[in-house]
Amino acid sequence: MKSTAVAPSNIAFIKYWGKKNEQLRLPENASISMNLSNLFTTTTVEFSANYKEDSIEIDGIKESNGENRAIQHLDRVRKMANLSFKAKVVTKNNFPVGTGLSSSASGFAALTLAGVSAAGLKLSEKELSILARQGSGSACRSIPDGFVEWLDGSTSDTSYALSLYPPNYWDILDVIAIVSAEKKDVSSTEGQKFITSSPFFKTRLSHIGEKIFLVKRLLKEKNFLKFGKLIEAEALELHAIMLTSQPSLIYWTSGTLELMKLVKRWRVKGLSVYFTINTGQDIHLIIENKNLDPLLRKLREIKFIQKIVINRPSVGARLTHEHLF
Ligand code: PMV
Repeated sequence: MKSTAVAPSNIAFIKYWGKKNEQLRLPENASISMNLSNLFTTTTVEFSANYKEDSIEIDGIKESNGENRAIQHLDRVRKMANLSFKAKVVTKNNFPVGTGLSSSASGFAALTLAGVSAAGLKLSEKELSILARQGSGSACRSIPDGFVEWLDGSTSDTSYALSLYPPNYWDILDVIAIVSAEKKDVSSTEGQKFITSSPFFKTRLSHIGEKIFLVKRLLKEKNFLKFGKLIEAEALELHAIMLTSQPSLIYWTSGTLELMKLVKRWRVKGLSVYFTINTGQDIHLIIENKNLDPLLRKLREIKFIQKIVINRPSVGARLTHEHLF
């Protein structure tokens, strides 16, 4: 009963921020994302009568068993499979965790698929997405392939992610500029709890349906300029809400700000690139593949950028035979 899964992280074009049901992780609004080819988590899960307790190891470090979200997630799997065995879980990320690169999305998607398979369950993509959502909201979007919509839904069964288009649908890239490897002070799970304290929360809810509709239309038309403009404004709206929540959430560093300004300048000079940012300091630059080289030339000249990660649209979570133990 050992299984291994690989799952991608994802970048949201229309963001998930705030829950209408904390326990089930039902979001305040629908969101749209793209899976990322170069940020992924590999997880092996084994349930066995030989294990006396659950053990979780992430990137070589053993997790404590207290209020552990991974163990709570294993409990969900055990309940579904009617299983009482303890589990050994080993996880590896190919990127730094806790810095705003959505390791909880890839992490919980991989844990869901590996856990379900190790428990001998056969679930549909929709059922896997519903289960992953309960571990970490954005993880439900790392289950299906390519360009994805997470339906908000008012019940657990109606809030899941589905693929809008496969990875090869549109040749756009997410070039991530890592401006600092610092871990964020407030996790997205914690930060989201303050959303209703922002005076802009109600405004966001009043037009988010329209935004989802529009971004889906622009995706369909592959209208990069309008798409880029919309997703950049959306990222700034998300951060306006974070900045005006009580307590306020400031995720940007000086490098984030400098790069945002540069992107705007590059656009004036003719390079069609747009940014989006999650809970963290790093910038996701969204660009058409044909403009990758000029963008990389500019990024490589910037001293404060520590690392550049180029992502193509990717498939969702997959099983593999390459176990980690
Ligand atoms: O799934 P969580 O709790 O890590 O929240 C993700 C929140 C954002 O990354 C800011 C937005 C999103 O939709 O991915």
